[in-house]
Amino acid sequence: MNRPSSHGAIGVFDSGVGGLTVCRRIAETLPAESIVYLGDTARVPYGSKSANTVIRYATACAQLLSRRNIKLLVVACNTASAFALETLQQQLPIPVLGVVTPGALAACNCSTSGRIGVIGTRGVIESGVYEATIRRLWPDAQVFGKACPLFVPFAEEGWTEGPIIKDVVRTYLDALLQADIDTLVLGCTHYPLLRHVIAEVAGSHVRLVDSAEETARDVVRVLGEHDMVLPADEQGAHTFLVSDCPDGFMDLGAQFFGRPLERVEWVDVCDG
Ligand code: DGL
Repeated sequence: MNRPSSHGAIGVFDSGVGGLTVCRRIAETLPAESIVYLGDTARVPYGSKSANTVIRYATACAQLLSRRNIKLLVVACNTASAFALETLQQQLPIPVLGVVTPGALAACNCSTSGRIGVIGTRGVIESGVYEATIRRLWPDAQVFGKACPLFVPFAEEGWTEGPIIKDVVRTYLDALLQADIDTLVLGCTHYPLLRHVIAEVAGSHVRLVDSAEETARDVVRVLGEHDMVLPADEQGAHTFLVSDCPDGFMDLGAQFFGRPLERVEWVDVCDG
């Protein structure tokens, strides 16, 4: 692997706005680092698409970011992490991190009973990636998955509380709660926005795992290993790119990033 310069940025991509929850944690943990974020808003959602299509889209996003002087790439999208991580790790000459292994690791650290629930997009749940990763770390763990596709539009519409979303959450979580899980992985970029209502329905005995925090720790670890951490007194720049609808991204993005996005630039993410 060519040694990337410590002055490169951290590249982060997602199918759209959701990965800003991961980007936010990285920015909070590493304020000195510059980040270039790409949301593939022209082709969102990835969660209902086939593995081949997601790999193609993810490859195009990674190629675009790799032309922006990045030293490390974070695949913030759970679906792209499930399907495309290995391909991207083989293609790029820089470290490429996903969100699944950090989330699985955090779940294993949280759980005492080894009965772990995972919620995510259809793609993530059908891929079985969390189950396989958790069981590699903890072979006796029992993993219960449930696809919750309606959570993404609810989060994007800002419907994060109230009786309707509570009913939807209850319906989706029913079988997992019947299975007596003690830990629940929020295996989708959007679910941290619904954390409050998910926690209320799941009950205080179920611990929620948000892979964004663990992913940020992973970024620190990998930058350290490659001697690429910038001095803490620097102030990183944040650049936001999208493949469609920059204005809508800017409005919605503030909720996911936790603060306003100063500027959002349109880019042409060609299919590689
Ligand atoms: N970012 C996706 C994920 O975390 C959710 C939205 C989508 O389906 O594209 O899997």
